[in-house]
Amino acid sequence: MKTWVEKYRPRTLKEVAGNPRAIAALLSWVKEWKTGMPKKRALLLYGPPGSGKTSAAYALARDLNYDYIELNASDWRTRDVINRIVGSASRFGTLDPEREKKVIILDEVDGIHGRAEYGGLAALKKLITQSRHPIILIANDPWKLPPEFRGLTQMVEFKRINQRTVLRVLKEICRREGIAAEEKVLKIIAANSNGDLRSAINDLQALAEGRRKLTLADAELLTMRDVEIKIFDTLVRILKTESIERAREAVRESGEEPDTILKWLAENLPLEYRDPEDLARAYNYLSRADVFQGRILRRQDWGLLSYMIDLMSAGVALAKKRKYPGYTRYQYPRIFAMYAQTRGERQSLDALAEKLQGKKDAHVKIHASKRVIKEQLIPMLTLVMKHNPEMAALAASELELELKDIKLLTGDEKLAERIYRQAEEITKERMRRLAKGDRTKQVSLWEF
Ligand SMILES: Nc1ncnc2c1ncn2[C@@H]1O[C@H](COP(=O)(O)OP(=O)(O)OP(=O)(O)O)[C@@H](O)[C@H]1O
Ligand SMILES: [Mg+2]
Repeated sequence: MKTWVEKYRPRTLKEVAGNPRAIAALLSWVKEWKTGMPKKRALLLYGPPGSGKTSAAYALARDLNYDYIELNASDWRTRDVINRIVGSASRFGTLDPEREKKVIILDEVDGIHGRAEYGGLAALKKLITQSRHPIILIANDPWKLPPEFRGLTQMVEFKRINQRTVLRVLKEICRREGIAAEEKVLKIIAANSNGDLRSAINDLQALAEGRRKLTLADAELLTMRDVEIKIFDTLVRILKTESIERAREAVRESGEEPDTILKWLAENLPLEYRDPEDLARAYNYLSRADVFQGRILRRQDWGLLSYMIDLMSAGVALAKKRKYPGYTRYQYPRIFAMYAQTRGERQSLDALAEKLQGKKDAHVKIHASKRVIKEQLIPMLTLVMKHNPEMAALAASELELELKDIKLLTGDEKLAERIYRQAEEITKERMRRLAKGDRTKQVSLWEF
């Protein structure tokens, strides 16, 4: 199955949405090539993800009716390739230029920077000054590149696509997919995309694929699913790239907790990596990321966070021998359904965690973050509740749990009632002792 971002990639410059000034610059550069050699043989397209840089480069080659050579600049093999092209470029005079019409497209040029072993930039500079082929360089952040290098290029800025334009593209895709979408839904997707058309289209596909209609009810779902949709995009970015930088960025820019992303990766890896060896390598990286996470939490050593992130992003991205093409339907619909069912439950757990922290006018106070309480204490309590009724009653008394809290923890009404009754007895007994002036404390579970 094709991704909609592939399916609807603009094929000509005219089809590239937004960024009229950039497109005009590209068109006039094309004109220069048609009549001779432009002042700058290389364009440097730069700007945020999903704004159409790569698409524009290919569209340009197409509009020129040129072939193209595509290189990923952050690929270590690139230097050799560049040198070969430089070689052929200098031999170029002997060939018939008409038959050698090629655009050289180098994506992720900012990834070259900083690799000492590389010499890639030097090769590239040579290429730019000698090439008889149009060269298009692409970067998210051109300011990482040395100024003298930038000076060799004509820089063209791509800006975030404005919401109106995103909306227009989404509408057009819906029309072509035969989906009747309420405008409100599309507006929400557009607003969420923050000018990243790729993520907007991914979101749309995630929500609308296989449907005839997209309604306001889905829009409500959408705001609720906002977080999950962002994660969907993060997964796409990690799993579909072979670039270390890209994968890292995906985590850095996602705004989600690394732990959340890690869980989603663990869930979805098998859907993407169909080669068992790739899968095994990827899980190996994930498990190492998890080990780091454990250390981070135990020692509160946040300096280790970048290792965790590298393992789960770059590690997982590079675990595959090659990219898996096409669209993977990550397992979020199933998880959404689960989330939706347990939404009430999740809220109750939140409330319980807060109560244990001593908020909401309860007395108990556990000095831990809500997250630690939810992820560590509550699961432990659940185990205790299920397997050791006596200790459970003691804990329930001490933590001033109500019947509904115990039900939530045990998931078993009868058991909860038993524990609750026993906890009440323990509490009464303690009160009686207190009334008699007995100040000896009962051994507290929570003071070890
Ligand atoms: N300006 C645009 N017009 C039409 N479609 C676009 C545009 N920008 C992005 N898209 C859609 O998003 C997809 C990804 O866009 P593209 O690869 O061109 O972005 P990019 O700017 O190169 O992003 P990145 O910096 O992440 O490489 C395209 O295949 C297309 O479906
Ligand atoms: Mg690109």
